[in-house]
Amino acid sequence: MTFLKLRAAVVCGFIALGTLPAIAQETVENGDDLAKIVEELLASAHANRMSEAFVHWNGEGEIPGNCAVCHSSLGMVDYVRGPMTTVGIIDHPVGLGTTVDCVACHNSASASLTAVPFPSGATVEDLGPSAVCTVCHQGRASTQSVVSAIAGREDDVIDGDLSFINVHYAPAAATLMGGVVQGGFEYRGKAYKGQFTHVPKLDTCVGCHQPHTLEVKLDNCTACHQGANRFEDIRISRNDFDGNGNTSEGISAPINAFHEKVLSTIQLYASNVLQAPIAYNANNYPYFFADTNGDGVASADEANFPNRYQNWTPRLLKAAYNYQLVQKDKGIYSHNPHYALQLLFDSIEDLSDKVDVDMSGLTRP
Ligand code: HEC
Ligand code: HEC
Ligand code: HEC
Ligand code: HEC
Ligand code: HEC
Repeated sequence: MTFLKLRAAVVCGFIALGTLPAIAQETVENGDDLAKIVEELLASAHANRMSEAFVHWNGEGEIPGNCAVCHSSLGMVDYVRGPMTTVGIIDHPVGLGTTVDCVACHNSASASLTAVPFPSGATVEDLGPSAVCTVCHQGRASTQSVVSAIAGREDDVIDGDLSFINVHYAPAAATLMGGVVQGGFEYRGKAYKGQFTHVPKLDTCVGCHQPHTLEVKLDNCTACHQGANRFEDIRISRNDFDGNGNTSEGISAPINAFHEKVLSTIQLYASNVLQAPIAYNANNYPYFFADTNGDGVASADEANFPNRYQNWTPRLLKAAYNYQLVQKDKGIYSHNPHYALQLLFDSIEDLSDKVDVDMSGLTRP
C-alpha cells in the first residue's frame, strides 16, 4: 500500500467510525493540523504494521481475547466499552490488521475513561487523557501473580511446577504508579515508593510524551535539569546509591549498576545453591535459560524454548521477575527511579541470605 493510500485509510477509518471528539472536530476544520497528526501517528511505533507486537498472530488468523486489548484497536475499543472486570482481557477474539489507530484512543468510551484497573486488582482514578495509555502499558502481572505462584512453597526448594513469570513489555504505567499498583515484586515487610509525582504537568504519560509521535522532548526537561544532554543523564538524588563515589551521573547509572548486580547474584545463587547455572537473553522468550556450558551468557544455541530454565525456586523467581521488569521498561529511570532501585536492592538482599554478595556501599532509597 502506498503511503498516501494508507494515510487515507487511517483518516477514513477514524471518521467513518464517527468517533471524532469535540476537540478533534474543531481541528478537523483545519485540515493541515489533522494531516500532521495522521503523519505523526503513522511514523510512530503505534502504527508500525511490521512490528512483532502487531504481526505475532498472523499465523493464527485472529487475536485471542487475552491479547487483543493491547495489540489491536478492535480489542481496545471493546474493552473500554465494556465493564473491564477481567483486567486486560475481553471474552472474544478479534480480527487481524489493526494497530494502535486513532479510534483506539478517540472513541466515546476512551474519551471518557478516567479509572483503569491493574493486574494487582488496584484501580487508579483520575488519569485524564493518560487513561488510554494506562490500559495498554500496565504489564500483565504483579506482586500478587508471584505470591500466588509460590504460595505454600519453600524459598530454596526447586519446584518443577514453577515457571518464569514475565511482567510483559513496556509496563510504564505500572512503574509510574509504583507501590500503588505493585507491578514489581514487592518483598514483605519493605516499604515502596508510590506514584512518581515528579512535578506538575510532567507527571503523566501525555505530560511527557506527545500522544501521537510518542516523543519526549529533552527541551522540556532542561529548564530544570540543566546540562543534561540525554534523558539518561538527569540526576537530582544526592545519595550515592551504588557507592561508586559519583553522584552527578544520571540516576539511570545506579539503576543499571543494581540491575547488573541482580543478574550476577541470580547466577551465583543458581550455580552455588541450586547447582543449575542460569543465563539471561533479553530478546528470546522466556528469557531465562539453562546455561549448559556455564559461560554466563545465553548464546544462540542455548536461548531457545526447549532449553528454558526449569529449576525455579521461589527466591529465584522473585528476583528474576524484578530483573525483567526493569529490563522491559526502557524509561524506568524517568517513570519511577526510586521504585526501580528499591525492587533491585531488595532482590539482591534477599538472594544474599543464601549467597555471599558484597552489599557494602549499596544504599536503598
Ligand atoms: C495489558 C496490555 C497487553 C496485553 C493484554 C498483552 N500485551 Fe503484548 N505487549 C504489550 C505492549 C504495550 C507491548 C509493546 C512493548 C514494546 O514497546 O515493544 C507488547 C509487546 C508484545 C510482543 C512483542 C515483544 C517484543 O519483544 O517485541 C509480543 C510478542 C506480545 N506482546 C505478545 C502478547 C501475547 C501473546 C499476549 C496475549 C497472551 C499479549 N501480548 C497481551 C501489551 C500487552
Ligand atoms: C494512543 C492514543 C492516541 C492515538 C492512537 C491517537 N490519539 Fe489523538 N490524542 C490522544 C491524546 C491523549 C490527546 C490529547 C488529549 C488532551 O490532552 O486532552 C489527543 C489529541 C488529539 C487531537 C486534539 C489536538 C491535539 O493535537 O491535541 C486531535 C485532533 C487528535 N488527537 C486526532 C487524532 C488522529 C486523527 C489520530 C489518528 C491519526 C489520533 N489522534 C490518534 C491520543 C491518541
Ligand atoms: C491499544 C494499546 C495501546 C495504547 C492505548 C497505547 N499504547 Fe503505546 N504501545 C502499544 C504497543 C503494542 C506498542 C509497541 C508498538 C510496536 O512495537 O511497534 C507501544 C509502544 C509505545 C511506545 C514505544 C515507542 C518506541 O519507539 O518503541 C511508547 C513511548 C508508547 N507506546 C507510549 C504510549 C502513550 C504515551 C500512550 C497514550 C497516549 C500509549 N502508548 C497508548 C500499545 C498501546
Ligand atoms: C517524567 C516524564 C515521563 C513520564 C511522566 C512518562 N514517561 Fe515514558 N519515558 C520518558 C523518558 C524520558 C523515556 C525515555 C525516552 C527515550 O529514550 O527516548 C520514556 C520511555 C518510555 C517508553 C519506552 C520507549 C522505548 O523506547 O522503548 C514507553 C513505552 C513509555 N515511556 C511510556 C510511558 C507511559 C505509558 C507513561 C504513563 C504511564 C509514561 N511513559 C510516563 C519520560 C516519561
Ligand atoms: C519544573 C522543573 C522540572 C522539569 C521541567 C523537569 N523536572 Fe524532572 N525533576 C524535577 C524535580 C523537582 C525532581 C525531583 C522530584 C522527586 O524526587 O520527587 C525531578 C526528578 C527527575 C528525575 C529523577 C532524578 C533523580 O536523581 O532521582 C528524572 C529522571 C526526571 N526528573 C526526568 C525529567 C524529564 C525526562 C523531564 C522532561 C520531560 C523533566 N524531568 C522535567 C523537576 C523538573
